[in-house]
Amino acid sequence: MKVLDAKFVKEFVDMADDGYTNGYHERNGGNLSYRIKPEEMYEIVYEMKTDREWMDIGASVPGLAGDYFMVTGTGRFFHHVKEDPENTCGIIRLDDTGTKFQILWGFADGGRPTSELPTHLLNHQIKKEQTGGKHRVIYHCHPANLIALTFVLPLTDAAFTKELWPNMTECPVVFPDGIGVLPWMVCGSMEIGLATCEKMKQYDAVIWAHHGVFVSGENFDIAFGLCHTIEKSAEIAVKIRSMQPTRRQTMTRPMFEALAKAFNLKLAEKFLR
Ligand code: 13P
Ligand code: ZN
Repeated sequence: MKVLDAKFVKEFVDMADDGYTNGYHERNGGNLSYRIKPEEMYEIVYEMKTDREWMDIGASVPGLAGDYFMVTGTGRFFHHVKEDPENTCGIIRLDDTGTKFQILWGFADGGRPTSELPTHLLNHQIKKEQTGGKHRVIYHCHPANLIALTFVLPLTDAAFTKELWPNMTECPVVFPDGIGVLPWMVCGSMEIGLATCEKMKQYDAVIWAHHGVFVSGENFDIAFGLCHTIEKSAEIAVKIRSMQPTRRQTMTRPMFEALAKAFNLKLAEKFLR
C-alpha cells in the first residue's frame, strides 16, 4: 500500500487540516505526532528508506525503543499539510536504545521532525506506559482564547479547571481529571519536556502559559476533540469575562455530582472544592 493511502496517514492529515481550519496554527505554530501500530507499518514497509543516517533525539526514551512515528516537520506550516504531506511530515523509527531516530519516509525536501520532538516522545513514553499502550497521539497547538486566559487567571491547575469545567456541561465529561498548567518556559527545551511529562502523569491536557496547549489521546478524534473542547470552553470564558466581571449563575457542586452520577464519571475531588 502507498503511504498516502494508509488510513492513519489520511487521519493524520485530516487532523492537521482541522487544526489549521480552526485557527490553532498560525504560520508553523504547533506540531503533531502519532505512534504507528505494527500492522499499519507492515502495510507501507515497501516505501520506507532504511539507509539514512541515525540522528540524536535529544532525549532518552527507552520505553519507545524500536517504535515508529509519523510527525510534522519543524518550520512547516499546518496550512500546507493537506496539499503536501510528503514535504511537511515524515515517518521515523527509534533505535533500540531510544536515543536516536532515523527518517524512513517524508521530509522530502530535506526537512526534519518538529523542534518539539523530545517533548512529544517523552510524553508518548509516559502515556504509553500509563495507558497500557492505548494512547498514540500527542498534539500541540496555539489556540487564541486559551492563551488569552493565561494572562488573566492564576497559572494553576485548579484555577484553569474550575474556570473551564462549568462553561459547557460536556466539559467535565470530556476532561474529568482536569487540566494541568505550566508557567512560561523556553519551548523545545528539555525543561518544558520534563515538566509537561510530570503534568501528563495526572492529566491528558497541559497548558503552556503564553504559548499553547499539549494534549494526548488514544486516537486522532479523541486528541483533537479534547483540544477543541478546551478551547471552546476558553472562548466562552473570554466572552463571559468580556460581558461582566462575575457570573450571575453557574454550575454548582450538586450539579457536578449529578452529572458524575449520570455519566459514571470520577471527577477530581480537588477541583470540586
Ligand atoms: P516546530 O515548527 O519546530 O514544530 O515548532 C512550532 C511550535 O509550535 C513550537 O512550540
Ligand atoms: Zn508552540
